[in-house]
Amino acid sequence: MSDSERIKGLHHVTLCTGSAQGDVDLFYKVLGMSLVKRTLLYDGAAPILHLYFGNETGDAGTLTTVFPFRQTGKKAKRGAGQLSAISYSIPPGSIDAFWKEHLEKHDIPGIEKAERFGQKLLKFVHPDCGVEFELVEEENDDRKAFKSDVVPEQYAIRGFHSWTVMARELDDMHAFMNEAWNYKKLGSDGDYTRYVVGKGDAAHIIDLHQQKEAPTGSWFYGEGMIHHGAFHVDDYDVQEQVKFDVEGLGFTDFSDRKHRGYFESIYVRTPGGALFEATVSLGFTSDEPADKLGREFIVSPQFEEQKEELLRRVNEPIDM
Ligand SMILES: [Fe+2]
Repeated sequence: MSDSERIKGLHHVTLCTGSAQGDVDLFYKVLGMSLVKRTLLYDGAAPILHLYFGNETGDAGTLTTVFPFRQTGKKAKRGAGQLSAISYSIPPGSIDAFWKEHLEKHDIPGIEKAERFGQKLLKFVHPDCGVEFELVEEENDDRKAFKSDVVPEQYAIRGFHSWTVMARELDDMHAFMNEAWNYKKLGSDGDYTRYVVGKGDAAHIIDLHQQKEAPTGSWFYGEGMIHHGAFHVDDYDVQEQVKFDVEGLGFTDFSDRKHRGYFESIYVRTPGGALFEATVSLGFTSDEPADKLGREFIVSPQFEEQKEELLRRVNEPIDM
């Protein structure tokens, strides 16, 4: 199996946030994403809401999913050994033409212009839980713009640009990206080293950010952290081959395949500390028609018999 047939680009990223309302307020009302699925966390006994935001069809490479964890009282630490920032792709010129003023108008904290690998970007912070984001001006992105009532199409997000992984030491992570994950080193810019797969265009980029003094971030589910990043694989055969090959390198903590309703996933803890997933997409239309995604509350299998009670407990009213 050649490298190009294994791990592909970015599929989805999953955060532990504060409240469902805080997530809708940022992703739907400010960033112009669609809410394409409302379901529950598939692990454990505690019912935790799981919301999926993305383009209107929930395509791979556009999906930001959230577990609002405040209700449990558990708070996570951000730091090394995690994904530390999520970057979305926007058209050239749109930071000054639209986004900076738009974010300021909605009182989004942490707004700061920056540049990395020759690209202009705008940093900001999730107002409800502190997770860090960026909007990156990308010239070569022909994906369709997200459709919404809040962001004009010519400025809209196209999907992921990249994710940043923070680690105190990077030697073993460089080897992992190259040998286990078939991503190739593109170059460095200050503390950042860029890895790409395929053509290296948007949603095929990972930046490793070395921070030698950073405190270690949490791995458990708790408010205020990015829990994992999921990469696309084409089918179960590729997924099994990836697991077999990566275990052969000594990363024997690759999980078994887990059914996630809309994808089938395996997970591995990388030597940099961040949790990576390799996932096969099943699509979002198995339980809702394409033109009504995200309207209904879908209960994950372990809670099927408690659906009515959960609807009362978890389905907190969300002001859209
Ligand atoms: Fe995931």
